[in-house]
Amino acid sequence: MDPSSAPFDEVAAVDHVLTTTRAVRRRLDLDRPVEDQVIFDCIDIAEQSPTGGNQSTRRWLVLRDPARKLALAELYREAGGDWIIAQHEAIRETGHHSEKVTASAAHLAENLERVPALVLVTIWGEHDNSGRPGLFDSVIQAAWSFCLALRARGLGSAWTTVHLNRADAVKELLGIPDGVTQIVLLPVAHTIGTEFRLAPRFPARTITYVDRWGDTRAGNADGPLTHDSGPGVTVEVEIDAAADAIWPYVADPDLLARWSDEFMGATWHDEPGLGATFTGRNHQKVLGDWETTSHIVGYEPHRLFAWAVRDPDVPSTQWRFELIPLAGATRLRFAMTFGPGPSGLTWAIENDPDNEAAIIRARQDTHRANMGRCVAGIKALAERAG
Ligand SMILES: Cc1cc2nc3c(=O)[nH]c(=O)nc-3n(C[C@H](O)[C@H](O)[C@H](O)COP(=O)(O)O)c2cc1C
Repeated sequence: MDPSSAPFDEVAAVDHVLTTTRAVRRRLDLDRPVEDQVIFDCIDIAEQSPTGGNQSTRRWLVLRDPARKLALAELYREAGGDWIIAQHEAIRETGHHSEKVTASAAHLAENLERVPALVLVTIWGEHDNSGRPGLFDSVIQAAWSFCLALRARGLGSAWTTVHLNRADAVKELLGIPDGVTQIVLLPVAHTIGTEFRLAPRFPARTITYVDRWGDTRAGNADGPLTHDSGPGVTVEVEIDAAADAIWPYVADPDLLARWSDEFMGATWHDEPGLGATFTGRNHQKVLGDWETTSHIVGYEPHRLFAWAVRDPDVPSTQWRFELIPLAGATRLRFAMTFGPGPSGLTWAIENDPDNEAAIIRARQDTHRANMGRCVAGIKALAERAG
């Protein structure tokens, strides 16, 4: 967005706060007091967030008393903090993907009572377990606004929920009445330094679908579906296996021929790795048989395997497998983008330009079906091997 078209001129400052409000644990200043007023100011700001029926249902509980903080910290440790501390010991210096987060979470668990203020965000009401967001959508945005307002003032927090495993004990400790739901515990302190980095996250265009689930646009989404707008398809599956166990299947394009009704097989020209190439053999009813050369453009074992077809600078299609670690499982994403180079698709469009969008949609459907079978097949293999 062009900042000059924004309704106010502080877009950069607002965006900075929105993008750098991190989970702060090791950089909470445990020795610097936090003024009461700043907490109340931040709650006033947070209370401006929307609430169902415009009702005042959120309640905030601020712990300042050392004995109360210690009692809550002990419950936090019993409820899961001790497990986090043990986990940190188990994986420290192993290169485990969650080593840093666990070290940070363990530090907080060990020092929770030393944080100047512990803020519990609660709401009047109980969830109806209907599967709808219900209660939570009247409170979570307020709690997050509170974190953002803290950040703008040089304070920090971390979203914590471990204590909810002992929600009844917390309720008793703090005199929380029946009918109130506890949502989050926010430890509040000044931060040590105020520089925080952006977190690695998936770019919006890769996780945002346009008009239909799984349909992506690398280019302009505000207009007709054209080849120039960089359409693509993404499918995902959750696999009950670790990323390293799934990787060999993902890094073997020949395997995809088992499940695709168009891709017939792949032959490597080099050792698999960045810059390596393979020939792909394809067959389709209308187009017949054809071969393409694919170039490996992303190769990070256990995380990313990506290739560009034909010309790596102007590919006809681009494909990528990504492995995202989850707690005890892995999400496999398989994504493809058409173009920008010529392909069978551009040939079909040139022959029938009035039907460009319909031709693209049909091609997306073919790929979605093939790719869906591929990730399901990889899931079956990886789970069977485990
Ligand atoms: C629903 C939820 C529950 C969380 N629970 C805890 C927790 O109990 N303890 C903790 O130290 N961090 C907790 N976190 C913080 C996450 O670990 C943190 O957001 C993650 O490490 C990413 O860091 P970032 O927010 O700085 O990007 C929780 C976060 C969310 C969204």
